[in-house]
Amino acid sequence: MSQASLIDGKDFAARLRARVATQAADLTARTGIVPGLAVVLVGDDPASAVYVRNKERALDSAGMHSLDHRLPATTEQATLLALIDRLNQDPAVHGILVQLPLPRHIDTATVLAAIAPEKDADGFHVTNAGLLAVGRPGVVPCTPLGCLMLLRDVLGRDLAGRRALVIGRSTIVGRPMAQLLLNADCTVTMAHSRTRDLAETCRQADILIAAVGRPEMVRGDWIKPGAVVIDVGMNRLPPACGETGGGRLVGDVHFAEALEVAGAVTPVPGGVGPMTIACLLVNTLAAACRRVGLPVPVEAVP
Ligand code: GUN
Repeated sequence: MSQASLIDGKDFAARLRARVATQAADLTARTGIVPGLAVVLVGDDPASAVYVRNKERALDSAGMHSLDHRLPATTEQATLLALIDRLNQDPAVHGILVQLPLPRHIDTATVLAAIAPEKDADGFHVTNAGLLAVGRPGVVPCTPLGCLMLLRDVLGRDLAGRRALVIGRSTIVGRPMAQLLLNADCTVTMAHSRTRDLAETCRQADILIAAVGRPEMVRGDWIKPGAVVIDVGMNRLPPACGETGGGRLVGDVHFAEALEVAGAVTPVPGGVGPMTIACLLVNTLAAACRRVGLPVPVEAVP
């Protein structure tokens, strides 16, 4: 049986981060501006704390400022909105990221809508979602942008006519991913928890994006031979017998089976994950460039 090639997101992301660092240094040398991202973390969810720390480290190593705002889990929505208002006005802040999920007493949609669209580093504001939906330039969510970059690295820039299936309809990944693929002239199908005959639908896809959060749900015999499989899932299995701490980290795709059938597949970890942070750097740099009227980096324009 032939083996799929591995899509090395970690290596791709490292090269992307190096390019962004060079462009950020260039911007600073020309204008004196250091791109700055305000990172807002409400509460003490341990996974969110790890993500935020990784984002801040990546910004620092790319020569950008990370402006850290940690608020207790009991923070009132009005306090958070007041902080966002200040960050919207602050000229040293080019991008704003509010780490999700927020505590339950805070309305996520209201908070995301309060971020100035041009500072929305995540691309979650309805204005940016709308721009993507009509195929106009805006801020593109980091994870789907990173997936598209990996796809083009494997298949070439032109994806026209390919059959793409996106499993999962979240506003963070599934929906914007489908819009990006549609804008790239793919024939796009969206599947979700109510889809019938998911396995058969998968078998039609030249490009398969799994973003559902269900460990190893996509099996090898669901995959069209030669397809490109992008696994956005990050699921921690329960510890196996004798294992201490958490269990293995797996994606939404059964990796070993996919390797036997697909043309190319992303591993978990080391596939899509590192691309999300690299694309956050791209979006932050792009926001700083837009502010001073300079062209945005090509990477920010899908
Ligand atoms: N929580 C999980 N993924 C993300 C992301 O991409 N951005 C933000 N802000 N929060 C998240």
